[in-house]
Amino acid sequence: MGTGIAQVAATAGHPVVLCESSSRALEGACNRLAKIHARLVEKGRLEEAAAEAILGRIDYTRAVSEMAPCRLVIEAIIEDLAVKKQAFSALEEMVSDQAVLATNTSSLAVTAIASACTSPERVLGTHFFNPVPLMALVEIVPGIASSDESVQKVRRWIDDWGKTTVLCKDTPGFIVNRVARPFYGEALRILEEGIADAATIDWAMREIGGFRMGPFQLMDLIGNDINFTVTETVFEAFFYDPRFKPSFTQKRMVEAGRLGRKSGRGYYDYSPHASNPEPAQDRDLGEEIVRRILVMLINEAADAVFLKIATVEDVDLAMTKGVNYPKGLLRWADEIGLEEVLRRLEVLQTEYCEDRYRPNPLLRQMVRRGESFCHRGTEDTEKG
Ligand SMILES: NC(=O)c1ccc[n+]([C@@H]2O[C@H](COP(=O)([O-])OP(=O)(O)OC[C@H]3O[C@@H](n4cnc5c(N)ncnc54)[C@H](O)[C@@H]3O)[C@@H](O)[C@H]2O)c1
Repeated sequence: MGTGIAQVAATAGHPVVLCESSSRALEGACNRLAKIHARLVEKGRLEEAAAEAILGRIDYTRAVSEMAPCRLVIEAIIEDLAVKKQAFSALEEMVSDQAVLATNTSSLAVTAIASACTSPERVLGTHFFNPVPLMALVEIVPGIASSDESVQKVRRWIDDWGKTTVLCKDTPGFIVNRVARPFYGEALRILEEGIADAATIDWAMREIGGFRMGPFQLMDLIGNDINFTVTETVFEAFFYDPRFKPSFTQKRMVEAGRLGRKSGRGYYDYSPHASNPEPAQDRDLGEEIVRRILVMLINEAADAVFLKIATVEDVDLAMTKGVNYPKGLLRWADEIGLEEVLRRLEVLQTEYCEDRYRPNPLLRQMVRRGESFCHRGTEDTEKG
């Protein structure tokens, strides 16, 4: 992630210092960037001189002290709170008072990382998506103590890099990793109940739902181990709210070493000449599957707005730009009709008597008032 962030900043014309802990990793980063730019030149996407200029803007170092002149430092080291806190504490000693410090953490609290600094007001989260140069979205996450000035400054910079920034509260999963949970969780539930197999669920979500990939294809691509860990982390971070309960099926896949593409086998077999099951292309079944997963996603998106995690506009932007959903979930909810979304959730809740299906209070309130998301406008989050 760090190499991608360096590439984007250098492409936008900034001088960059890329700091790595080991010489091997540093060399790897340098080689990777050289290779990426050589390929861009080869494909005619970049002039040779421009590629040279971009690469020339990046300095490589193992010494944190070399970051002293930096106005913005984006940390993208391993996902470990103690290690990150130590890095921030060391960084704060090196940089000027005006420098802003950002973390690319995906699952830790920005506030907890910032607590390692004596000036936590200049610390915030900048959550990029992988691969950084290709993914437009960056979630900007103020910690409890972040100053508006730091937040606005960093947001402006990253907007200038051509990214789409959304603002969200420092809560588990930020926007994307929180709202997207049912894409996997509800698909797994449908599989576990024997309503359809993985190939059919994937087919329905692609062909009827318009998603680029089905949930099982995507879990295989991300890695079932990584996806399971994110689910477990979010579940724990939400104090075990049943909405985020992980699935035994996914756990067993990890235990069996069926991690997905990287291990050659996941929900699908990736070995040469493998034959994978064909989907049952039953349109009625497909529509039932899409409806169920979609209302669960909308319920989660509504919850993010209800709890002021982000605005309606930013939740929709996050899901379209961060995970390429075909439409913003809240705009989609308006199209379906909030009354219908609520009705479908109530049917699920009545059928299963499980808390995971409880409709969000915001949906109930909006239905009562006859509102739609596009007519609620853009309410600001606290730090907006
Ligand atoms: N991979 C993703 O898809 C993704 C997406 C969003 C956010 N993130 C977050 O970005 C961060 C990095 O993730 P990654 O996937 O790039 O990890 P990675 O393991 O590929 O890279 C981490 C790098 O940090 C270096 N490093 C470790 N300790 C260091 C230190 N003290 N000083 C300098 N360098 C150090 C390592 O040598 C390694 O090259 C994590 O916080 C992760 O949660 C990852």
